[in-house]
Amino acid sequence: MRLTGKRALVTGSSKGIGAEVARLFAREGARVVISHRPSERHFDSVVNSITKAGGDASAFHADVSDPASVRRLFAEARQRLGGLDILVNAAGLSDSRIWNADIEETTPEMWNRVFSVDAFGTFLCAQAALKVMKKGSIVNVSSTPALAGDTEGMVYAAAKGSVLSLTRMLAKKLAPRIRVNCMAFGSIETGWVEWLDPSQLGSYVSAIPMRRFGKPSEAANLALFLASDESSYITGQAIVLDGGEVMR
Ligand SMILES: NC(=O)c1ccc[n+]([C@@H]2O[C@H](COP(=O)([O-])OP(=O)(O)OC[C@H]3O[C@@H](n4cnc5c(N)ncnc54)[C@H](OP(=O)(O)O)[C@@H]3O)[C@@H](O)[C@H]2O)c1
Repeated sequence: MRLTGKRALVTGSSKGIGAEVARLFAREGARVVISHRPSERHFDSVVNSITKAGGDASAFHADVSDPASVRRLFAEARQRLGGLDILVNAAGLSDSRIWNADIEETTPEMWNRVFSVDAFGTFLCAQAALKVMKKGSIVNVSSTPALAGDTEGMVYAAAKGSVLSLTRMLAKKLAPRIRVNCMAFGSIETGWVEWLDPSQLGSYVSAIPMRRFGKPSEAANLALFLASDESSYITGQAIVLDGGEVMR
């Protein structure tokens, strides 16, 4: 097992990639704290699936865009785990209205909503982690449009661009105590795929050399590598996982 004895907090782990990361980390021996916004949806199912499989997981509600809520989450995680070795900032906003908004249709409310979760939320959680984590690994989540540009999802890509620069700033500041890296995903098959009609789906897939979307389990494998000691000499990097869509 690759995370034996490690203590991990995964934000945005009620569903999608974060849930898959939490399950994989638990299978690899980590004690895991799961978190998402206050609501009862999905919550128990992730914890239950982990504990049923013999893993160690607990769940706390938090809104990553709210400083008081983040402070509470990390205090609860410290109490539950006694400290922290790994933070995965997987919480992110998915919303078809914001994704499809053209420049003229983009409102201050859209901008603030996305930035408050994806950019500010990532910062707040990293800031709070410093008080709990003596040594370890922070794994952030960005997106390939932040690296390569796109014609859709402008606000989202701008927020994920902040995650890239935040990753590099934190990596320089926190080395050698804490490594900070970021996963830049292309199209991973989670809830947002339901927004696409068949022709959109076809055009997305045909732009990917691997001719398919990535699976949440493939995204979780990258998180595992970056969280584990196998990546002990990697910090400040954005690792692309996108089936070859962006080649730099
Ligand atoms: N899927 C892709 O193709 C793709 C590509 C590039 C990057 N990403 C990024 O990868 C991450 C995971 O994506 P996904 O596709 O798995 O998304 P998802 O299925 O929509 O899951 C998002 C998670 O974030 C949580 N969340 C949303 N707002 C939150 C807030 N204010 N505070 C705390 N938790 C919050 C959600 O919890 P609730 O249950 O409360 O909604 C959920 O657990 C996101 O950062 C996303 O931007 C995804």
